[in-house]
Amino acid sequence: MSDPLIEQARLDWMTALARVGSEARRHARPVVEGVLTRMVGLTLEAVGCQAPIGARCDVINAGGERVETEVVGFAGDRLYLMPTSEVRGLTPNARVIPTHHGSDAQVGPELLGRVIDGRGRPLDDRGPLRARQKVALAGKEINPLARTPIRDVLDVGVRAINALCPIGRGQRMGLFAGSGVGKSILLGMMTRYTAADIVVVGLIGERGREVKEFVQEILGAQGLRKAVVVAAPADASPLSRIHGAMQATSIAEYFRDQGKNVLLLMDSLTRFAQAQREIALAIGEPPATKGYPPSVFARLPQLVERAGNGARNAGSITAFYTVLVEGDDHNDPIADAARAILDGHIVLSRQLADVGLYPAIDIESSISRLAPQITRPEQQRQIQQFKRIYGLYQHNRDLISVGAYQRGSDPAIDEAIRMQPKLIEFIAQDIEQSFGFDASLAELDALLASAADESAAAASAASAATDEAPA
Ligand SMILES: Nc1ncnc2c1ncn2[C@@H]1O[C@H](COP(=O)(O)OP(=O)(O)O)[C@@H](O)[C@H]1O
Ligand SMILES: [Mg+2]
Repeated sequence: MSDPLIEQARLDWMTALARVGSEARRHARPVVEGVLTRMVGLTLEAVGCQAPIGARCDVINAGGERVETEVVGFAGDRLYLMPTSEVRGLTPNARVIPTHHGSDAQVGPELLGRVIDGRGRPLDDRGPLRARQKVALAGKEINPLARTPIRDVLDVGVRAINALCPIGRGQRMGLFAGSGVGKSILLGMMTRYTAADIVVVGLIGERGREVKEFVQEILGAQGLRKAVVVAAPADASPLSRIHGAMQATSIAEYFRDQGKNVLLLMDSLTRFAQAQREIALAIGEPPATKGYPPSVFARLPQLVERAGNGARNAGSITAFYTVLVEGDDHNDPIADAARAILDGHIVLSRQLADVGLYPAIDIESSISRLAPQITRPEQQRQIQQFKRIYGLYQHNRDLISVGAYQRGSDPAIDEAIRMQPKLIEFIAQDIEQSFGFDASLAELDALLASAADESAAAASAASAATDEAPA
């Protein structure tokens, strides 16, 4: 039997311990500050503090202001930091204060119609953002088996895409093109004319002037109404550009989880990869493929895999990522990697743009890998027929244009020559024009029916001519 006095003392002791314990837990963890030891380019090195990769640290500059940074790597007891805000007035031994927070994104319906930067701050003049909900910038994984399969078509409002390269809800496409071939305008047209509920546009690494032009002229008030624009232009730090792309994706995820069909337009994936290359090279990762370190190729699918369909009952994120093919070099390592992780691509051709055909979609090289799952056999047959006639002309164009082809020697080529202007006209679409999915299909139908009629007429005229010819 224990002594009641001892038992009482033990209870008192336990109560006191519990009180002190909860008191200790109520106070924040002590922050162990470090100091800045080195700064080369945009890479900062700190010692004396610990923080995980991706955590934020504030560095206090000579004027007492905070410079926000993020941990991007470490070596021994040194932390490598990169700024996410403007860097001014840093000194040796500046205080480095870990915040124990990762970067996050503000989300909410309040974002609609707004233009924000890579850190979620408003760039427009519509006052402070009132979005209160915060989510992790890195997003959360979706079990690939839990995703709803892609079954329905998304009307993007562009005739050539709807009819010839149809896109499914939740599909991730590449838009491959050189500069000045019409990517921004095509993305703007989709923003304005798509049937998606919400459009999220990420402008990553573009020139500042282009951001303004896109928002004011290409999108306009009409396009902006159901859109959110995240802009991290070329002069933003590489980490801000990465964050811009992740921010846009987080916002798209938020609306998807609300059950909305979201169209995510990212311009450009190449600039995102280049930002990651800048960071990786700065902290000493060796370049591997044409100057790109391996982490770049790990980052791309991490970003792209976040788009797509959600689990049951959630909405969808259909995404277009633009990929720059400089000098129209389609074997660029980023273009190669993108092709492997995306569900198809639309190629814009400089040749077509040069002759004033906009949108300059190269129908022969563009492919939607999900077309068979989301379209009826009738449309698939028509797409093949269109491509066959179109391709036949392209492959014989040189012969035809120098007059080396004799009309009448091959009925299929005759048909291709006859149809060529109509096919080109079908691809072309004015900036102010919009074509719904059904209208696009109806026009394709009419186009191919007229081709059949004309071929029949040409055939009967030819046989009449041979009948009349003197023996
Ligand atoms: N649908 C279109 N109709 C007429 N002109 C177009 C169209 N699309 C593009 N253009 C022309 O191409 C130029 C470059 O387009 P832009 O979208 O800015 O190219 P990118 O974003 O690929 O650099 C535009 O300034 C415009 O003159
Ligand atoms: Mg552009």
